[in-house]
Amino acid sequence: MSERIYNFSPGPATLPPSVLQEAATDIVNFHDKGIGLIELSHRSKEFMAVAEETEGLIRELLQVPDNYKVLFLQGGASSQFYMVPMNLLGTGKKATYLNTGAWSKKAIKEAKLFGDIKVAYSSEESTYNRVPTDDDYSVATESEYLYFVTNNTIYGTQFADMPKSDTMLVADMSSDILSRPVDVSRFGIIFAGAQKNMGPAGVTVVILRDDLLDCNAETVPTMLRYKTHADKDSMFNTPPCFSIYCVGRVMNWLKEQGGVAAMEKINQRKAGILYDAIDGTDFYRGHAEKASRSLMNISFNLPTPELEARFISEAAAVGFDGLKGHRSIGGCRASIYNAFPEEGVQKLVDFMADFAEKNG
Ligand SMILES: Cc1ncc(COP(=O)(O)O)c(C=O)c1O
Repeated sequence: MSERIYNFSPGPATLPPSVLQEAATDIVNFHDKGIGLIELSHRSKEFMAVAEETEGLIRELLQVPDNYKVLFLQGGASSQFYMVPMNLLGTGKKATYLNTGAWSKKAIKEAKLFGDIKVAYSSEESTYNRVPTDDDYSVATESEYLYFVTNNTIYGTQFADMPKSDTMLVADMSSDILSRPVDVSRFGIIFAGAQKNMGPAGVTVVILRDDLLDCNAETVPTMLRYKTHADKDSMFNTPPCFSIYCVGRVMNWLKEQGGVAAMEKINQRKAGILYDAIDGTDFYRGHAEKASRSLMNISFNLPTPELEARFISEAAAVGFDGLKGHRSIGGCRASIYNAFPEEGVQKLVDFMADFAEKNG
């Protein structure tokens, strides 16, 4: 493999090089079968074993209780914005949502098509620079669930602790799943697009408590019912085989790193290096309030948009790709998911110090 640069992309994001190499081999000839991985029938015993292994590893790494299903769905995390309320709500049913960014706002818009949606908190007026504490909102009575986004990819905010509400939690964990341990039993549904911490785009992992499968099962179109996919082990129709395979390889890599608890420590260390660099000078300014800071996406500004543009282009020239902030807030963003190497964070910090000295 030619030399890799540091990829700070928010997603699709950097993957472990060992996984890319394994996939490159298997895609051409899977386990010496003489058939490439993406040419195998999804009903072949080889692929069924791949899907089973992937599910097993997710269960093991996240300690998913037995009364939960792990589904591999398509349509992106965005399709869960409507699948969740379509399956769990209906006339007169209520849910509470926390609006902490563009992804929760989109989910709220979809949910309003299906139920009575109470938005209990919003940080929109401060450009989503924080997430709430439990004292900042109350869950509407008789809510079927409390919906929130654990990590806000664009703004670089993250719930350090999950809400303590007794209401069933539903979470979009697209940008921090498997970055730290979570108590799955507190959630009715957890979903995440794969393309940040799990693998390539194309598969959305949905972890769902099995008593929720029968909700609205008769009124929801077949492909959009969780039960359809759960009853057929995600093989009701052709699943995204390659993505499922890659997620399995990434899970295997994560296990080799020591699992999610070990990964959380690494993530804390990596983000700490970057936040220390930001806090150590007036030149850089973090977007998120300190208590809401994300370990995955670090959004920051320089004194002027011109300096930000120069920073991004000079960084790209020396091999730091993907540092441009999301178009909705501008500035810079370093996405440092599980697979992003610590040495790359250190090198970025060195570059930042150098840039500040020359331009400050
Ligand atoms: C937190 C979060 N939710 C949802 C999405 C949308 O995911 P998808 O593009 O798979 O629909 C993203 C994409 O970046 C995200 O960061």
